[in-house]
Amino acid sequence: MNKEKTNVAVFASGTGSNAEKIIQYFSQNVTINIALIVSNKQDAGVITIAHNNKIPVLIIEKEQFFRGDAYTDYLMKASIDFIVLAGFLWKIPANLIHAYPNKIVNIHPSLLPKYGGKGMFGNNVHQAVIDNHETESGITIHYVNEEFDKGLPIFQIKCEVHANDDANSLAKRIHQLEHTYFSKVVEQVIIKETT
Ligand code: GRF
Repeated sequence: MNKEKTNVAVFASGTGSNAEKIIQYFSQNVTINIALIVSNKQDAGVITIAHNNKIPVLIIEKEQFFRGDAYTDYLMKASIDFIVLAGFLWKIPANLIHAYPNKIVNIHPSLLPKYGGKGMFGNNVHQAVIDNHETESGITIHYVNEEFDKGLPIFQIKCEVHANDDANSLAKRIHQLEHTYFSKVVEQVIIKETT
């Protein structure tokens, strides 16, 4: 690709703390532009973050996402080059994956392949880690394929699970890792896959 700018869409369904970090990280970047926030929830925290940062928002509907073209046409027309999933809970349909080969990445709050798959999100992940008496957990950043949390891993980093952790305290430690590493890894993948 020989475009001057890589336009990135960030998909998020929740609070959007990772989306916010990504927006901040790339705010002065002249070649990587956070161009669109995509959410399936009108009242998600990430929408406020988008508005505060003057980034356009696309609210998506289930019907078009799963039985239509998964907004592929919209994203193409908006010149989106790369997609980051930052707390987006819907499975990505095949046509969108095929339209963006190696250009969709996700972050997962465990050391995949452990504690991934359907239903493994948010505190469900951390509770399962604690229930299984794991002594370490961490984050995985990976390419997205047609199966939940099964795309090729790009980056992992570990943290300790403490004996007195509950899901919330572990979630906090994991979020810190996400905020430290996700934007940097996204930048590296974009450079690798779009230049
Ligand atoms: C993160 O823990 C991420 O790993 C998972 O969803 C969560 C999103 O958190 N995929 P936030 O909305 O960015 O705070």
